[in-house]
Amino acid sequence: MLGILFVLLSNVFRIWQPRVIREALDLVLSKLENYKSSSELIKNQIAQDLAGDLMYFGGLVIVLALLMGIFMYFMRMTIIVMSRLIEYDMRKELFDHYEILDQTFYRKNNTGDLMSRITEDVSKVRMYLGPGILYTINLVSLFVIAISSMLEVSVKLTLYALLPLPILSITIYFVSSLIHKKSAIIQKQLANLNSISQEVYSGIRVIKSYVQERAFGKYFKQESDEFKTMSLDLAKVNALFFPTIVLLIGVSTIITVYIGGIEVSKGNITHGNIAEFVIYINLLTWPVTAIGWIASIVQQASASQMRLNEFLQQSPQVKNEGSSTSPLSADIEFKEVSFTYPDSGIKAMDQLNFKLKKGEKLMIVGRTASGKSTIADLMVRMYDPISGEITIGSQALKEFDLGHLRKNIAYIPQDVFLFSDTVENNIRFGNDDASLDQIIKIAEKASINKEIQQLPEAYQTKIGERGVSLSGGQKQRISIARALLKDPDIIILDDCLSAVDSNTEHAILEYLEKALENKTCIFITHRIPKSIVMDKIIVLANGALLEEGTHDELLAKKGEYAKLYKKQSAQNEEIIIA
Ligand SMILES: Nc1ncnc2c1ncn2[C@@H]1O[C@H](COP(=O)(O)OP(=O)(O)OP(=O)(O)O)[C@@H](O)[C@H]1O
Ligand SMILES: [Mg+2]
Repeated sequence: MLGILFVLLSNVFRIWQPRVIREALDLVLSKLENYKSSSELIKNQIAQDLAGDLMYFGGLVIVLALLMGIFMYFMRMTIIVMSRLIEYDMRKELFDHYEILDQTFYRKNNTGDLMSRITEDVSKVRMYLGPGILYTINLVSLFVIAISSMLEVSVKLTLYALLPLPILSITIYFVSSLIHKKSAIIQKQLANLNSISQEVYSGIRVIKSYVQERAFGKYFKQESDEFKTMSLDLAKVNALFFPTIVLLIGVSTIITVYIGGIEVSKGNITHGNIAEFVIYINLLTWPVTAIGWIASIVQQASASQMRLNEFLQQSPQVKNEGSSTSPLSADIEFKEVSFTYPDSGIKAMDQLNFKLKKGEKLMIVGRTASGKSTIADLMVRMYDPISGEITIGSQALKEFDLGHLRKNIAYIPQDVFLFSDTVENNIRFGNDDASLDQIIKIAEKASINKEIQQLPEAYQTKIGERGVSLSGGQKQRISIARALLKDPDIIILDDCLSAVDSNTEHAILEYLEKALENKTCIFITHRIPKSIVMDKIIVLANGALLEEGTHDELLAKKGEYAKLYKKQSAQNEEIIIA
């Protein structure tokens, strides 16, 4: 509301300027008439008067311009600042919403799309809320004030002077739509270039080892060429933009001077009126140009808002509706759990039943794609089962507060993810209050402390994007340390020792066995570890339970587990012999 008031005030002072100039000019002209027909003595007097008058009018114009400027400053400080604040809120809202949405959403939408919505689309909506609204108010108020002043002087001259302006406005509308269309294509191509280069940088090792640098260089050049052609195309349209405006303004000015001249000779208006009119036309140019521009901004903003709403209106399928915060150190049970991945339609879990007592250690083995990781995902509610139920201490997972559930389960996923931060902060991730001492102790348990101490800056070493400066096994153990630091009730290790040698694996498992005595542990693996006693082992095949029992029971059964175990021991012996 204040912004609107400031726009109005600034326009009032803007429109006074041509009036003052008209008066000044008329005064000068009339005094010059007198001057010609006067005697020497009076001539001097008139010249002095004239100088005083001009000083007065000049000063007045400057004061008006200053007042106009001050209010313009305030109008921007209110309306544009308001739009920036809304932009800030919207971006935060969208980011928070992204964080709530579940895996299904992230599988369906690619990262580029998520990023462009949170940056470009939000900016486009801001353009509408800030400059869009500002210039609309400005346009309407300036039009009303300027045109009523013009009509006061001469209706006929007003009509003639304004004649080319609608053409200008329509032209601008079409040109800005064209520019917008072309920019959108360019934007897409730019995103394409970005994703190509991003992929090349992150996959540089594969590219180099397959000697594909040239092929990628060529591909990048092709896409860049396309980008260049599109940009030049846009530059052409842009180049036509301003000359068109200037041409149409020029036409308007010529008409004003011509028709105005005729009117002056008829005695209908004064010379000053022509000057006043020329200034009015120049004042109206920008608002008229803005009509087309605003129309295009409104269109873009509505498309962008629609894209934003599309995401904002999506609610996660995994909802946090439970409130229970009972401890998770209790029995776990899978009851007839079935699950199908919503996007691929792959049935990853088929009526799975098993029970795990509080504090027991469970090992899950199975061939690749047998549904092992799916069990872990279901435990931390990345997804909810299609049918059946998972319970902890006879309470269904859904009854727990989601934050409580996830805080108390340490899940070490199969694909390790480290942040581009220090080693210390990567380990501290789930437990902000942990001291460096605690971190070092935990790292020791995860058999990684020694190696961290040898890094250039030990725990303060920055590990690069996604931990590029570490080996696969080091990354795995850092992620184990991170999980253990949470001091969880349940711990799930998803094949997270695959890149660790068997001695280290043994040391870690021994620690888990001792220190996590009363913690429930689910250990998912391809490689059956030797000499570690698990309370229970289940063998999965195609998402269903194939075998279940202890190590000895399963060996005696001579089924899939026994086969797998034999094969692995044979392999190990071979290695020892070699
Ligand atoms: N996010 C996903 N979207 C769609 N399908 C998936 C997804 N994750 C896994 N699947 C499918 O579900 C099935 C089980 O996958 P899961 O990851 O549970 O196997 P796994 O036993 O952990 O295999 P691995 O030993 O190779 O890690 C597979 O057929 C896989 O293709
Ligand atoms: Mg897996």
